[in-house]
Amino acid sequence: MSKVKLTTVDFTGTKQQEKELREKLAEIKNMDGNLMPALQAAQGIYGYLPIEVQKIVSEELNVPLEEIFGVSTFYSQFKLNPTGKYAVAVCLGTACYVKGSGDILSRLERELKLDAGGTSHDGMYSLEATRCIGCCGLAPVLTVNEDVYGKLVPDDIPGILAKYQG
Ligand code: FES
Repeated sequence: MSKVKLTTVDFTGTKQQEKELREKLAEIKNMDGNLMPALQAAQGIYGYLPIEVQKIVSEELNVPLEEIFGVSTFYSQFKLNPTGKYAVAVCLGTACYVKGSGDILSRLERELKLDAGGTSHDGMYSLEATRCIGCCGLAPVLTVNEDVYGKLVPDDIPGILAKYQG
């Protein structure tokens, strides 16, 4: 299993979000197999699953926090960190990988001082590795929000990041 990176970004959930989540959990509390729908609902409300939210799910469904944490970290559909203002994603699909996207990701980790899966403390950047995004002709590819950059070499990274500051 890959390393789990918990966020260092302060939790900013609101009372309204908590109320909405508790109401949703009350509805499905007695349903069989309710953990996945509960986590999907929680992620829908908060955008990710910080430990504070996992605790609410644990309390309401009466499921140990360890189990919730295990499920949240096992399935790639669940995010433990919020998306940064600039969401940087590197494709590690086969075409990109054979053309060096592993080196692109390493360079980004160094430049952003973030591991893949992490979000910077100020919430500006998040970094992810993704599957094929359908631009294999441009391999290796990365995206920053909706912008796509292709045919990259590691030395392209500082110039790309310079466009996304402030
Ligand atoms: S493998 Fe990277 S875009 Fe397809």
